[in-house]
Amino acid sequence: MAPLPHLRLGVNVDHVATVRNARGGDVPDPVRAALLAIAAGADGITAHLREDRRHIHDDDMVRLKREIGKPLNFEMAATEQMLDIALKIKPHATCLVPEKRTERTTEGGLDVIGAQGYLKPFASELAHAGIRVSLFIEPSLEAVEAAATIGAPVVELHTGAWCNAVIQSEPGKAGAEFARLVSAAAHAETCGIECHAGHGLDFGTAREIARLPQVVELNIGHFLIGEAIFVGLEASIRKMRAAMDAGRAAVIGAGP
Ligand code: PXP
Repeated sequence: MAPLPHLRLGVNVDHVATVRNARGGDVPDPVRAALLAIAAGADGITAHLREDRRHIHDDDMVRLKREIGKPLNFEMAATEQMLDIALKIKPHATCLVPEKRTERTTEGGLDVIGAQGYLKPFASELAHAGIRVSLFIEPSLEAVEAAATIGAPVVELHTGAWCNAVIQSEPGKAGAEFARLVSAAAHAETCGIECHAGHGLDFGTAREIARLPQVVELNIGHFLIGEAIFVGLEASIRKMRAAMDAGRAAVIGAGP
């Protein structure tokens, strides 16, 4: 079997900004967290500039791009305002996500099927500027196919429903959701699309999803930043890296 591609860890620093914004002012600084995350083994940094700027601010994005020295994954809604900002900042990648003002976090995947006509030119404008486009989608074959029609080189599979089922100890649902992730990841490979995954991952679920050979990047935020309160950010990231490596060593489909 050919060696598997390195499984990259993208650390999402949104919630460092959430804590900062709770008091106003400059601390804790998400850029400082990003630099520490990289020193601890992160392969890239993810940050979501929301329409309501509830955590990451425009200036954080500018500073992240300037200071981190590793790929910046700019999560954003597919709006004209965000397109303008992304074209100015020129991150390594953008991950297009759905956004609702009332949600606490990104609740579902993009409507790639219904919004194909809008997303195709939108994605192509980013691609022409040299920005890699990833679409955050539900783990379904139809969504993967729509992403291929849109021309996205990357999809990020939404792992939220699976992670919730695991946390809530619903083995039947967890098994069914994991099976959807397995088939969507395999289908992405068939369609020639690079496959990422994220949302709600912790040490256990990151280890498990690392077993899918097609998945080459995990984007993880909330759990890592929360764990950092107890053990520090560096230890939190190193432990996540170890969990991912352990999963990779037991990849699904590998022989005995
Ligand atoms: N990937 C995407 C596209 C997301 O929207 C989020 C949440 O911002 C994450 C990954 C990270 O999710 P979590 O914070 O639950 O680890």
